[in-house]
Amino acid sequence: KLGHQENDHVDLDELISALPREKGFGSLTLILYRNFWCPSKVFPAVHSFCRHFMARDSEIILACKPKSGTTWLKALAFSALRRDVFPPSTASHPLMSSNPHELVPFFEYTVYGQAGELLDLGSFSTPRLLATHIPHDSLPESVRQSGCRVIYICRNPLDTIVSFWHFAGQVWPKVWSSGQSPKEEYFDYCCRGIEGFGPFWDHILGYWKASLEGPNRVLFLKYEDLKEDTAGNLKRIAEFMGVPFSEEEEGDGVIEEIVKLCSLSSLKELEVNKTGKRAISFIDNNTYFRKGEIGDWVNHLTPAMAEKLESIMEEKLSPFGLKF
Ligand code: A3P
Repeated sequence: KLGHQENDHVDLDELISALPREKGFGSLTLILYRNFWCPSKVFPAVHSFCRHFMARDSEIILACKPKSGTTWLKALAFSALRRDVFPPSTASHPLMSSNPHELVPFFEYTVYGQAGELLDLGSFSTPRLLATHIPHDSLPESVRQSGCRVIYICRNPLDTIVSFWHFAGQVWPKVWSSGQSPKEEYFDYCCRGIEGFGPFWDHILGYWKASLEGPNRVLFLKYEDLKEDTAGNLKRIAEFMGVPFSEEEEGDGVIEEIVKLCSLSSLKELEVNKTGKRAISFIDNNTYFRKGEIGDWVNHLTPAMAEKLESIMEEKLSPFGLKF
């Protein structure tokens, strides 16, 4: 059984009370678990995932920190992987009626969360396509030791913070408006690394190093590169998943069809993404689609904030050759 594990709750309270915790932004409580700050609400699911998940070698896992382009990557990977069954040009394509988060469920929100009771992962076609926000070195042993493949996407932390601000304002309007100056407060938490699934530098570096050590096991993508050359990166994604586009498909424009199907402008206008709810928990589907621009942070961060975050990125990421 992959959903809730009955025996987990027995020692869960004890475990939680023994772990370091911090008050995060708003009313969030963060628990330091397996070296990352885990939001307390998903802690039981994260714990079950880490304890019980047995990865198959064929598994394909999409990984990212929130607001880095998860929704887009899910749409692209799903469309490329399942194109034999669901050609991208068909009106009945699953993306027309389902939010990408329904098609590629998260371990910690869905599979091992409450909705996991309704999911039968055993019935998913092989290879299974699943997702997580958990950092690389904190993934279940079976994921790291098996032959399963991981596709990671990250994004300039300046834009990720701004994207999260907007998301939080929609999803938790009360929490967001209760702080004295919520944006500054959240920014400060991020700079100190105390944010859900953070610190962001450890998150990015973990997958970066794993991709250098095992390029066939971890594909490392940047949101910015995906925007600049969506078709080229979609080809890389398909190849990595073991389903490269044939010359005939390229000639028939299949790549362009997928790019268009998964574009922000297309997905945003679909009824399921305009009015649908609860692809994950209580969240409205429309909150996953906003501007999708590179560098929107200039409209929201003060020069002093940008300078502070850039110096953290310089110190933590640049030594490893990572720049945004
Ligand atoms: P902005 O808030 O900067 O617009 P996530 O999917 O990880 O939650 O990230 C959300 C961010 O990705 C949002 O960024 C959102 O607009 C953008 N996004 C969602 N779908 C996209 C798509 N199909 N193409 C490009 N960007 C997309």
